[in-house]
Amino acid sequence: MPLKVSAHIRERVAAGEITSGQANAFSAFVDTCNRELMTHPVITRNRFCEWFATGQADREIVRHFVVQFSVFSNLFLVAQLQKCINAGSLEGMRASKEILANEIGVIFHKPGASLGEVSDTDREGDPAIVSTEGTVDGGTFRFKAAHFEWLLRMGEVLGLGFNDMGKRRHGTPSTVFFCDQLSAIYGSDDPNIAEGASFAVENWAAAGFWKQLVAGLEAFKKRDCPSLPLAFFTWHDRIEEQHAGHVMDELEELYFTPDFDEVKFIDGGRRMLDGVQAFWTGLNEHRIAAAYN
Ligand SMILES: [Fe+2]
Repeated sequence: MPLKVSAHIRERVAAGEITSGQANAFSAFVDTCNRELMTHPVITRNRFCEWFATGQADREIVRHFVVQFSVFSNLFLVAQLQKCINAGSLEGMRASKEILANEIGVIFHKPGASLGEVSDTDREGDPAIVSTEGTVDGGTFRFKAAHFEWLLRMGEVLGLGFNDMGKRRHGTPSTVFFCDQLSAIYGSDDPNIAEGASFAVENWAAAGFWKQLVAGLEAFKKRDCPSLPLAFFTWHDRIEEQHAGHVMDELEELYFTPDFDEVKFIDGGRRMLDGVQAFWTGLNEHRIAAAYN
């Protein structure tokens, strides 16, 4: 789906905040993003996810998928920490810390709402009940709320132990390549490259792959593995749904910052999408090879 400039930009022209020339330049840049990034096959046509959504994955494919996802989930922490350290402003650093702290187990705190905790301590940090909204500031840390621990519990049902998941050594070359590209591009010390990569990752996530994964996992669970917990995936789907609406506002804000560089932004975005593509291509090749064995 192509990105659209919001009506907000015309309101800013009317209010005298920006000139109509600046608004036109922004529109042209959005067109460039549509042409150079939004047409990337990992956004428009993710073959593994399309296939997975049909529910044909068997236990072996699901196990392999969960292991590769766990490697991504853990190594993503490295990229996110780099993004934090390389942030160009305190505000940017805090935005990155929101993601990092939540990943490792700080439950989002929504002012005025409950902390997502329940009196039943067994369910503390359970992704089926923890909030997808709010801030880690004032949130509660629970080991069990770490996203990697959610995947561990999924792995447990599939016969995978702690040392079968999440390490670099468990990743295929495609998964490891993807994770290294995340560190290098998403975690880049050049803010324009990093922002382009962030934008790419957000649009990839908003393209609906979580829903395809949930659909495939639900079918597998029903058919073959009734006790499989899916909340890692349903939680991420919920958070992505909320976030997708903010992508354009973020792009607009960034575009009008003094050091913004279109060329570097697009370059970071493209290279990041190629990295993301490698991850899914690796999974797709594995499932095709498995079908012939
Ligand atoms: Fe996560």
